[in-house]
Amino acid sequence: MTSWFLHQVNMPSHNVRETAGFLRDVVGLKEGIWIYPETQGELHHDENSIAYFGTGNRGIHVVRPIPIFPRDNGFLHNPTIGGHFALGVDDLASVCKRLEKAGVPFTDAGVYAMSGVHQIYCYDPSFNVIEINQMMQPLPADELAKQDNAADVTLRTVSVPAIGLEASVGFFGDVLGLGAAAMKRGGDAVFADFETENSRVRLTKPSATIAEDTGSLHNPTATACFSIAVPDLNEMRQRLKRFARNLARQISGKAQLA
Ligand SMILES: [Fe+2]
Repeated sequence: MTSWFLHQVNMPSHNVRETAGFLRDVVGLKEGIWIYPETQGELHHDENSIAYFGTGNRGIHVVRPIPIFPRDNGFLHNPTIGGHFALGVDDLASVCKRLEKAGVPFTDAGVYAMSGVHQIYCYDPSFNVIEINQMMQPLPADELAKQDNAADVTLRTVSVPAIGLEASVGFFGDVLGLGAAAMKRGGDAVFADFETENSRVRLTKPSATIAEDTGSLHNPTATACFSIAVPDLNEMRQRLKRFARNLARQISGKAQLA
């Protein structure tokens, strides 16, 4: 079994500054400082194409979709479209060997976007883009000194839809090397959980009715989602309620003007 952790989630946004404002002002996160490698790929990074929350390049990457990203970097996959999550592993070479043996094409991006981090991308059996990376060198001390620990983000769970759950469990368990999954049920949704210490990768067979069945507003099984740890969940509920009320006021104000 591969030793792994959740390195980052990539959150797609068509308005990066607006999404960054939500994460900063509503969720209460702090923007971090990206640490670039000496040699970069064509990242298209500017304030309207990326916002970063976390430390040491881990955490949340908010990214504008860039259709020419694979062409500009010689990639098979486009990590800027549709979002993805990244697994940090301690033996990327073994993961690559297993992908080759399983006939899964992958993009070997090398170290191109984050200091010291060797990244690869592939599709899982449901065509979610998955990043797997390995820290090849420690972060430079001068860059580390600029990092603000208050910007740290603790990722708890990433959840991706798995249309063919059995194939996805085999892919994550055997090919990526996450080991055995715990199977769970919620209504007519089926989950396969891979867990390590405080992190979880959840594969979800999508359910069209889980929100109705559980009396929830949202359906976390239909698309990918992630969870972070917060210091005070009650305070977060109040923040989100205020945000929802303000949003409703803005929408009704616009409707009256129309
Ligand atoms: Fe990524």
